[in-house]
Amino acid sequence: MRDTLLATPRINLAELPTPLQYCPRLSAYLDGPRIYVKRDDLTGLGLGGNKVRKLEFVLAEALGQGADTIVSAGVVQSNSLRQIAAATARLGLDFHAAVITDRVPNVDPDYQESGNMLLDALFRMKAYPCSVKEDRVVFMQQLADKLRQQGKKPYIIPYGVSNVLGALGYVNCVLELVMQMQSHACSFDAIVHASGSSGTQAGLVVGAATLLPAIHILGIDIDAEPERVRRDVVHLSNELATYLRHRPASLDERIEVVAGYAGPGYGIPTPEMVEAVSLFAQLEGLVLDPVYAGKGAAGLIGLVRQGRFTKEDTVLFLHTGGMPALYAYRSAFVRHIAALSPECDI
Ligand SMILES: Cc1ncc(COP(=O)(O)O)c(C=O)c1O
Repeated sequence: MRDTLLATPRINLAELPTPLQYCPRLSAYLDGPRIYVKRDDLTGLGLGGNKVRKLEFVLAEALGQGADTIVSAGVVQSNSLRQIAAATARLGLDFHAAVITDRVPNVDPDYQESGNMLLDALFRMKAYPCSVKEDRVVFMQQLADKLRQQGKKPYIIPYGVSNVLGALGYVNCVLELVMQMQSHACSFDAIVHASGSSGTQAGLVVGAATLLPAIHILGIDIDAEPERVRRDVVHLSNELATYLRHRPASLDERIEVVAGYAGPGYGIPTPEMVEAVSLFAQLEGLVLDPVYAGKGAAGLIGLVRQGRFTKEDTVLFLHTGGMPALYAYRSAFVRHIAALSPECDI
């Protein structure tokens, strides 16, 4: 597995290794397992996040094929688009994106222009509005065809940068973790993280099944589609195992996607997410986002309260980034912040 990973072309985009941090105040507050955070919000490029690791492999392939233009798709506040936009800016590639405009209902006014959207514009992403009702794969192909007719050499990055090459970024993360566990003299019983388009979880599951088989990976569904997420993780994990020419035992049975923390739908705030974002901020000075890491952390807190982990356990929360989207969700936090400081009128 390691040989195939190392033989796969890769460019350097991320600041690695990302820090591994113990959270004593959060652990004490929850009165459960020891909690560590792996800071993949600090991968660096374009304010960081989990896509930067994936893009190291995916954009290496694009460059290898002579691409001068990248095409992808994401929602208005997509962290994926923001990280691709930053990477293409750094590499001097053009970036054209299908922006899915109507996936999240009842959004703040800031949702359309602040947070990731502001950064996308600064990185010079060219945005093409696309309805959630349209087939985004067809939309991207048609966009790529038009660019080809204009003499460009486009390369399509799938939604969420989730394909075999993207998932390799998280096999690589497991390799990094093996070394960090040695240097920090710690080990983990479980890794908990937000799971959506499946690439992060597939890479973690295949990597951990091979290198750290005692660690259980728990993906928290943030899409309100747990069966779909699990199906996608199973599919991509199997593709990844084939690519790596290494099939860990009981691969499918190791894949767990936890339901119940997405609320009514993708991108819709929940009270559990607001609590999680607030606790991480107040107890550890850590910033989560409302769509992914915030709901992932709500899942972690919920599992601790349900007794899924004991006080003897050590759990790693993978912070996958997404912080810019916080600025697009001010109203979700207004009542909470007002309750904390009644004199402060925001
Ligand atoms: C901040 C953040 N966390 C987690 C995820 C989920 O990762 P994946 O799509 O690989 O399942 C995403 C995906 O966009 C994300 O932006």
